[in-house]
Amino acid sequence: MSDALEHLIDWRYWRDGDVVRVLDLARRVKHRRGAYQGHMQGHSLVMLFQKTSTRTRVSFEAGMTELGGHAINLDWRATNFTLTKISYETRYLSRNAALIMARLKSNEALLEMVEAATVPVINGCCNLYHPCQALADMLTIAEDRGTTRGAKLTYIGAYNNVVNSLVSISAPLGVHLTLVCPIREQAAIDESSRQRLLQLGQLSETLDVKAAAASADYVYTDTWLDMEFFGDPAFADEKQRRTALMAPYQINAQLMAGSNAKIMHDMPIHPGYEIAEELVECDASIIYDQAENRLDAQKAIILHLHRKLI
Ligand code: CP
Repeated sequence: MSDALEHLIDWRYWRDGDVVRVLDLARRVKHRRGAYQGHMQGHSLVMLFQKTSTRTRVSFEAGMTELGGHAINLDWRATNFTLTKISYETRYLSRNAALIMARLKSNEALLEMVEAATVPVINGCCNLYHPCQALADMLTIAEDRGTTRGAKLTYIGAYNNVVNSLVSISAPLGVHLTLVCPIREQAAIDESSRQRLLQLGQLSETLDVKAAAASADYVYTDTWLDMEFFGDPAFADEKQRRTALMAPYQINAQLMAGSNAKIMHDMPIHPGYEIAEELVECDASIIYDQAENRLDAQKAIILHLHRKLI
């Protein structure tokens, strides 16, 4: 391990071996919860949210409590981040907290924070990446089949921040990813991670949704429109356009007929849009396992990053 301060912006910036190690740590943390109880005693995590959250907020706070530390929740709108430069406020936070977890709207703002921070920064989801979700997804697959290696994961939906992190984490963990993404905006795609997975022979891209579902071990979907805009009247036309375009790609009983794949979704769920309501709670659904696994995945991330400083 290097002594340099490390952050989690996305898995693409981590060495492959560290990605493998942090997943192994997440599995150990989950199965031996008692063994890690005091590891963050006396330390605080600052959680900064510029966007809404249920799972990220709850799992990071519960995780710090279980590790014996403390989590401080900051709603961006109630802080002085609204009044000044991100760098100044971040340098202050670094004087009081052992780690910072930030859910910021833009990757650019996150990088500004990383540049100023003197403690590790964890990306709690920006416009380009959602690395904590991707590790929880890999933990779920590893628990389900014993290993991520050789797993066939089909993602059906818009090419978004979740996809970029699934692409980057799939490379070191040996997952074969099939993307069925009728919505692909070039600015939203991390082309470097995509090219790497293509070169490794671990990425397929198709619009044949039926075949992609039939051949998968796991079928994964996500919101068709960024959650930030889902209920925003200003995006009503775009929501309507995307809904019409994506309707044939909904995860439903008809699509899944003849497939043995388990069903994944990172939540929050929009029933009747990307997934039919009856599939959320069906026998093949591992959606709540995924959500639960945010806790142990993030505890592993916290321990991995913090250990480099102690
Ligand atoms: N999946 C996820 O990040 O959930 P929240 O937006 O509720 O945190």
